[in-house]
Amino acid sequence: MTIDNFEYITTEETKSEIIVFASAKGGVGKTVLTVNMAVAIASKGFSTCIIDGNFQFGDVNLALNIEPKLTISDVIHDVNSLDSNMLLNYLQNHDSGVKILSAPLKPEYADLITSTEIKVICKKLLEQHDYLIVDLSSGLSENNISFLELADKIFLVTDLEMAALKNTKIMLKTLNALNLSEKIRIIVNRGDMESVIKFKDVKDILGMDNLLFIPNNFKVVSKSFNIGIPFVINKPKEKISNEIINIASEIYRNKYFPRHRRRKKQSLMGFFKRKRN
Ligand SMILES: Nc1ncnc2c1ncn2[C@@H]1O[C@H](COP(=O)(O)OP(=O)(O)O)[C@@H](O)[C@H]1O
Ligand SMILES: [Mg+2]
Repeated sequence: MTIDNFEYITTEETKSEIIVFASAKGGVGKTVLTVNMAVAIASKGFSTCIIDGNFQFGDVNLALNIEPKLTISDVIHDVNSLDSNMLLNYLQNHDSGVKILSAPLKPEYADLITSTEIKVICKKLLEQHDYLIVDLSSGLSENNISFLELADKIFLVTDLEMAALKNTKIMLKTLNALNLSEKIRIIVNRGDMESVIKFKDVKDILGMDNLLFIPNNFKVVSKSFNIGIPFVINKPKEKISNEIINIASEIYRNKYFPRHRRRKKQSLMGFFKRKRN
């Protein structure tokens, strides 16, 4: 077997993955986690594309300080004539190597996107990338369910607020009824925030094990969002960055993708230094 025909062999190790960030309630940190996770994965040389699946009010571009030229609205307009290679022209490029399929520019365009188009777009993007990372709007809209069904892994994000936990519990029941529970990991974002509910209580409240913990860090996160630089790039030593990098390394551990799609590894700090010059 030569390296040229290696790409035609599909094993667990070489299958590209779709990772979806979902939540029952808005404002719990999906977008923050999506962009930082994507940059952490891309820094190891994996070709990584974010789909901004928050079709009405997507803010992935804001979090990455990118001005979208083309969006998913342009893709669906041309979808039947596009092959996976041509689709790359519709993506925005971030200096970290992450590519972005942006959300529509106006909320009223969101309803024009159908589940069938989501499936076609994901299939074509998977041919060109090792990881698709999807940032959803909160809740269980039809389009969100399409992404959740396509997902290999679902990160269901909550914080310690009562409303978030109550709705997460309800959402878990629905996802269970949809046979999606196997793919779910809970991320408790701001897990050490001031709250009557503590991180250690969440396991029993949600009836879920293996909870992932992300610390509260208002200063780092809000600055990062405002300047449009994910904190894993310029604050890699912070605990919050470490936790995200650990989850990222769990995702790509033991994965091997066809060589032609591997990008050069990039140090997170190196990227930041170049940006400042
Ligand atoms: N770990 C964290 N520590 C402190 N603030 C956070 C953290 N995660 C998110 N935030 C803040 O919470 C707000 C909502 O985050 P966002 O990612 O936009 O949520 P969502 O995408 O789920 O609506 C943002 O203002 C962000 O700065
Ligand atoms: Mg968001």
